[in-house]
Amino acid sequence: MPATVVVGTQWGDEGKGRTVDLLARDMDVVVRYQGGHNAGHRIVVNGESFALQLVPSGVLYPHITPVIGNGVVVDPAVLLAEYDSLSARGVDPSRLVVSGNAHLIMPYHPELDRLTERFLGKNALGTTKRGIGPAYADKSSRVGLRVQDLLDPKIFREKLNVVLHEKNLILTKIYNRPAMSADEIASRYLGELAPRIAPLIGDTVALVHDALAQGQRILLESAQATFLDLDHGTYPFVTSSNPIAGGACTGSGLGPRDITDIVGIAKAYVTRVGAGPFPTELDGDVSELLVERGHEFGTNTGRRRRVGWFDAVMARQAARLNSLSEIALTKIDVLDTLDEIKVCVGYEANGVRYDHPPYHQSVLFEVTPLYETLPGWKSDITTATKYEQLPSAAKNYVKFLEETIGVAISVVSVGPGREQFVRPA
Ligand code: GDP
Ligand code: IMO
Ligand code: MG
Repeated sequence: MPATVVVGTQWGDEGKGRTVDLLARDMDVVVRYQGGHNAGHRIVVNGESFALQLVPSGVLYPHITPVIGNGVVVDPAVLLAEYDSLSARGVDPSRLVVSGNAHLIMPYHPELDRLTERFLGKNALGTTKRGIGPAYADKSSRVGLRVQDLLDPKIFREKLNVVLHEKNLILTKIYNRPAMSADEIASRYLGELAPRIAPLIGDTVALVHDALAQGQRILLESAQATFLDLDHGTYPFVTSSNPIAGGACTGSGLGPRDITDIVGIAKAYVTRVGAGPFPTELDGDVSELLVERGHEFGTNTGRRRRVGWFDAVMARQAARLNSLSEIALTKIDVLDTLDEIKVCVGYEANGVRYDHPPYHQSVLFEVTPLYETLPGWKSDITTATKYEQLPSAAKNYVKFLEETIGVAISVVSVGPGREQFVRPA
């Protein structure tokens, strides 16, 4: 049976969580394949809101096995807090399986994330300061501790001693911060956290392959998005993992031929948190309106998101980078009150027209977006339950995006609630 990837096509917060929740009705396993608790995926069911950071967005369904894949970086304390908060709200997360190969976020990771950002001053990336970059850096440097190390106190201590020696030199000599204690870290991780994480650890590669062999359906959930991808995003204003669909294989252990469908999530306009280029960024009245109507504040960090018009140049690139088979368009209802809506269909810089992003980022910073202006629909679409009920201007907007991107739009969400979506015929 096939595996489906859900991937963000912009700079994050496109509505991946709510779309995974929607698609998970027909799935058996949902795997998070990269990122960590820098993600915030909101799902609203019967007016009740869940903001998930690490636990896959399928967890709200009792029939789903939620899996944290090897590509994720796990802060065990955050994972347990999320586990407990779900339990307290009547959701049973006990089916969760965590890859033993996933890397651990250690106490020095968020500390170094904060310090590096502070030292970068006005050049700071605006990271979530959760230790994501430093944890992935240690993974690449082969000094990371993995979830499975929680099961082996001797190995855990050995690895910790080696890496902490170097981290403490950095903390004390470069940043003038106090050293961290290996005993304290070990006692917290091995004494308090390991006993509770241990029953969740499993062989997730075997799990996903056995699931496919048994005819089960797997959904692979990205965190972050295409243009925050370490390789294909707007480097260095990116995250430290590979959210693009290719990352779903490395981050889960499925092979490329196991994946048959790739659903790109696109917001009907664009948002970005943190620094970096953003060609269609708006300021002024329309930006205020989008932030207010779209509640564009970070799901977990509370930071105000930058907003701009839909950018088909980026969307076309996302279609190529992820081999998108379809797009789920979200938050179109946020545009309900606008007289007219712009869509960026190309860029222009130094007399050159671009239909895909220029490879040189200095050019990307300078491009002028070329806009098509479409009429707004000026009515409330949040109660639509069938595509035909949308006003013709809204359907034209969807059609226009579909044609300019060149990928079919299979779902359009018209509000944050689980049932607030329609499917174009
Ligand atoms: P993710 O990180 O991609 O999962 O997205 P977030 O959950 O961080 O941000 C999307 C926000 O938009 C959440 O607060 C959702 O509840 C909300 N949302 C999702 N779909 C829609 C929609 O169609 N309309 C509106 N108005 N809000 C939506
Ligand atoms: P979801 O999954 C939006 C951004 C940060 C920063 C950059 C690097 O909810 O879409 P990091 O802490 O990852 O090193 O920060 O990436 N960022 C996100 N922006 N949504 C997210 O996740 C993000 N996760 C990281 O704002 O610019
Ligand atoms: Mg989010």
